[in-house]
Amino acid sequence: MLNLTSVDLKKVKTETLIIPVCEDKIIHDNQLISLLIKKAKQLKEFTGKKNDEVIFYDIEEVKAKRVMFLGLGKLEKIDTEALREFAGKAVKKCMKINLPEVLLSVPCGKNMKIEVASALEAMMEGAFLGNHIFDKYKKDKKIKPLKKIELLVKPDEAEKYSGLSARISTVCAGTILARDWVSTPSNDKRPEQFTRSIVNLAEKENLTVRVLDEKELKQKGFNAMLAVAAGSQIKARMVILEYNPKKTGKRIALVGKGVTFDSGGINLKPTNSLDGMKADMSGAAAVAATLITAARQKLDVSVVGIIPIVENMPSGSASRPGDVVKSYDGKTVEIGNTDAEGRLILIDALSFCIKKYKPHTIIDIATLTGACVVALGEKIAGLFSFDDELAKAIELSGKKTHERCWRLPMPDDYKELLKSDLADIKNVSSSRWGGAITGALFLAEFAGDSRWAHIDIAGPAYIKKGDGYCGAGGTGFGVRLFCDLLDKL
Ligand code: BES
Ligand code: ZN
Ligand code: ZN
Repeated sequence: MLNLTSVDLKKVKTETLIIPVCEDKIIHDNQLISLLIKKAKQLKEFTGKKNDEVIFYDIEEVKAKRVMFLGLGKLEKIDTEALREFAGKAVKKCMKINLPEVLLSVPCGKNMKIEVASALEAMMEGAFLGNHIFDKYKKDKKIKPLKKIELLVKPDEAEKYSGLSARISTVCAGTILARDWVSTPSNDKRPEQFTRSIVNLAEKENLTVRVLDEKELKQKGFNAMLAVAAGSQIKARMVILEYNPKKTGKRIALVGKGVTFDSGGINLKPTNSLDGMKADMSGAAAVAATLITAARQKLDVSVVGIIPIVENMPSGSASRPGDVVKSYDGKTVEIGNTDAEGRLILIDALSFCIKKYKPHTIIDIATLTGACVVALGEKIAGLFSFDDELAKAIELSGKKTHERCWRLPMPDDYKELLKSDLADIKNVSSSRWGGAITGALFLAEFAGDSRWAHIDIAGPAYIKKGDGYCGAGGTGFGVRLFCDLLDKL
């Protein structure tokens, strides 16, 4: 479905050829393509500025029925993300007009500072991810994904990079899996359904799967987590996925927040804040999809995924502000605010994970705080860790995949803000400010001396309006980042 090709444009018929065009420099070393670009630039309306677009039909130079030129802007602005966006947009344009296939020309001239492999990877990612629509809930499925996407490269490159497509397709299918889970409305992914959906796919990939139900959670003392689920008619579940390759080395643990709907509980959210709270299980989706992808890729590293799944609802059985619960590790927690529920389910998951698996590295990912969105906006995740090396590795993977993470501090003196008069700790800060940091510090109290990092994806997990290579809804943030990171760790 996604392939490299080096067809002769003069001889081979294609339906649609799409060429990325730089505004100020030549970025192709294919003479024929350069000639076509020159021709396009002779038009007043096309200069190669970002999002410029022009289409030629049935021109004599090539056998393509239509040749579309898309502007990338100035050379200095062309990075791998620009190529992802280009490929995503190109594919989406074809989908919109019902074309079944497309040929994308890969820029590879001497002016291009991006290595061929990186350019190909980025374009494949953008094309694969852009070629998906979540239309499960539409009666008329008007727009269909393309059946075939080809990237035009030189003959030796087609050979050299022939393995790339399979890897990228697997990872991006993982991202799409996470996206669809996140986009699914909360009435179709209540904790038991979401659990079943994860388990079904995980078993298909031969992951070791274990689900703790409410009874076991009670027995084992997951009381912080159970306190969050108490208001919902659907009980809590803890999903544990293990990927154990033959070659076993150090084990990496991923923990993902799985709140299938966050109403706030008794501290009910105001109307506008309820919007999008179906996405409060994005961390869980990223972890489950990563484990499934690791298995599909037959990675060489052991990974365990710990996924606490609950629904945060107000009712007569819900936890109240002021309640005190004894967490899995024994510390008592005063629930200052029932809307700070993510950290309650995560601390039990973190302490359980550390006790049972003693992982070499443990990373949690969660739509944890609105404060993180205030700090970093909707496209960048907050990153917290006491371990510089781990933080750096995550930052680098974030840069490479454009799932950007920005490290924030965890100052010791802020811990004071979490003091409780009644219990060992309180789940909310006594200050309005720095909420992403105090959220992370709360988790840190339960990470012990593990090599731990926390990624707050409250901003980038979800988008209201589609863009380059992602439709409106879940973004699948974290899957590509984790897949890159696991390869490195
Ligand atoms: N799920 C929310 C965080 C969130 C906010 C995610 C916006 C996505 C977009 C979380 O459970 C929450 O409600 N956090 C509170 C914490 C507060 C009560 C300390 C918040 O951010 O207001
Ligand atoms: Zn909440
Ligand atoms: Zn939440």
